Amino acid sequence: MSQTYPKQVQALLALTGQRLPIIQAPIGSAASVALASAVARAGGLGGLALSSAEPARIGELVTATLLASGGAPFLVNFVLHFPVEGLDQALSAGAKVVTFSWGINASLIAQAQRGGARVGIQVGSAGAARQALDAGADFLIAQGVEAGGHVQSTTPLARLLPSVLAVAGDVPVVAAGGIASGQDIAAVIAAGAAGAMMGTRFIATFEAAAHDDTKVALVAASADDTVFTNCFEIGWPHAMHRVLRNTTFTAWEAAGCPQPPHRPGEGDVIFRQNGTDFPRYSESQPGAGAIGDLWAACNYAGTSVGGIDRIEPAGELVARLGAELSAALSADTVERVPA
Ligand SMILES: Cc1cc2nc3c(=O)[nH]c(=O)nc-3n(C[C@H](O)[C@H](O)[C@H](O)COP(=O)(O)O)c2cc1C
Repeated sequence: MSQTYPKQVQALLALTGQRLPIIQAPIGSAASVALASAVARAGGLGGLALSSAEPARIGELVTATLLASGGAPFLVNFVLHFPVEGLDQALSAGAKVVTFSWGINASLIAQAQRGGARVGIQVGSAGAARQALDAGADFLIAQGVEAGGHVQSTTPLARLLPSVLAVAGDVPVVAAGGIASGQDIAAVIAAGAAGAMMGTRFIATFEAAAHDDTKVALVAASADDTVFTNCFEIGWPHAMHRVLRNTTFTAWEAAGCPQPPHRPGEGDVIFRQNGTDFPRYSESQPGAGAIGDLWAACNYAGTSVGGIDRIEPAGELVARLGAELSAALSADTVERVPA
């Protein structure tokens, strides 16, 4: 049975070509081709994170995702805190949706649009939303402070979303941060969002290129196990992030949150991956092949972690979220925006 969505949802689906108002966030190195394409095939919008990809490989990654998704839509993301390399390669390979976060750049937006893509900008405040609209964004993503990974906002989603909607007019606004279930998605849609972007929830899938221990830790954790901090700053200083509280964080906090180079265990190598050593306080999250003290490393998680009860194939997850969403919308049981 096909679902009739509110008009702001229909506007997003028409813009991006996705079938369901479910977006897999570009979750750094965990956002594999297999994950993005499985989400796309299931009707969501898959996501590739291209900021740290070798520019020479970007065309291949986009082509591989197009092939594996059978042409179903997915986004490619660049974090503007870092130099953008490879946008042209992504566009030439056929990327049709581009998202930027951690910055607003009108000429990059125009470049992506000239290349045939729709552009979404992730923002953390109404002021940034206004700037993104002035710069030509096709849609916005409102990222609440509940989000996992690096977080641009200090405002809970329940307060941020209405403030972004108030400036967005007819431009679709996707909600992000703390969303884990179809009921959560229904709640943000009832509050005016055009859809939901979820990061942490998609790490706990077979296809995510995260370490198995990370996936298991996400199933076990609750929202109270996350912390919003600047503890893991090597590689990306001065950017707040939400992670699982772990041994590195608790020792640092107990020492009074000292700044580098005065932190406990400064310089320790915590894990090794692909021949590279990663130090304590690195912002890099261990991937599938990492070895070492993984529980001392940075493990990104939003408050949405409390809603994760299994590791499952990404396509099944999208189908389940879609069914929960339909049931919630038709039963009109939508009660709250997740806080
Ligand atoms: C492991 C991880 C990596 C992330 N990497 C990126 C990234 O590369 N680019 C980006 O725009 N957002 C990134 N994010 C943030 C997401 O875009 C999104 O705001 C967040 O996942 C939403 O909150 P949730 O994790 O509670 O669903 C990342 C999030 C996580 C959990």
